[in-house]
Amino acid sequence: MSIPPDRITTARLVLRRPQPSDADAMYAFGRDPEVARFMDWTRHTSPRDAVAFIESAHARWQAAEEYAWAITVQPDDAAIGSVACRVRGHAVDLGYVLARPCWGHGYATEAAKAVFEWAVSVAAVCRIWATCDAENAASAHVLEKIGMSREGILRRWSIRPNLAPGVARDALVYSWVRTN
Ligand SMILES: CC(C)(COP(=O)(O)OP(=O)(O)OC[C@H]1O[C@@H](n2cnc3c(N)ncnc32)[C@H](O)[C@@H]1OP(=O)(O)O)[C@@H](O)C(=O)NCCC(=O)NCCS
Repeated sequence: MSIPPDRITTARLVLRRPQPSDADAMYAFGRDPEVARFMDWTRHTSPRDAVAFIESAHARWQAAEEYAWAITVQPDDAAIGSVACRVRGHAVDLGYVLARPCWGHGYATEAAKAVFEWAVSVAAVCRIWATCDAENAASAHVLEKIGMSREGILRRWSIRPNLAPGVARDALVYSWVRTN
């Protein structure tokens, strides 16, 4: 079992474990309807939702279920988003979310690429993959920019509760596979 580092530094970012003091910052983007639009979790309606996310992220890390980092821009320690991955034997999947004022600066690409590169560095990992809603063009573009290819469409794959409650929507699946 490969456990990623608690802290990953990139040219502009530090990815670090979420902590209780991130709750306000995480609530600020978790409650934003535009941010939550294509997500598979319900938009935050109370700061308690962000606290629950942070507690759950900690528990999931300890259980090796999912590894989530807060995204921060150096030298500021404020969380502007989060990125996470799950390790399932030879396969790693990843996802990310960013506060709206921070969109369009390449931060999601930089954060996702760092997690992607960690996964590539683990020799036992031969598949890295991610999904996004079929209409989430910005996210699809991020996945392409980090070096993944579109593998196909997963029909009626996921419910996006903030967009169409109870309706399973198509998703795009992207992947990178080790070929040697
Ligand atoms: C998806 C998301 C993380 C992208 O964050 P970001 O920091 O703006 O991403 P980047 O700047 O690294 O790259 C986005 C790319 O998509 C492009 N893009 C943005 N909106 C687009 C759109 N509607 N259609 C096509 N491309 C789009 C940008 O131009 C950029 O490409 P470029 O660098 O070639 O110009 C952000 O929009 C977000 O948090 N959305 C809400 C949560 C979400 O959807 N998460 C992903 C779930 S799968």
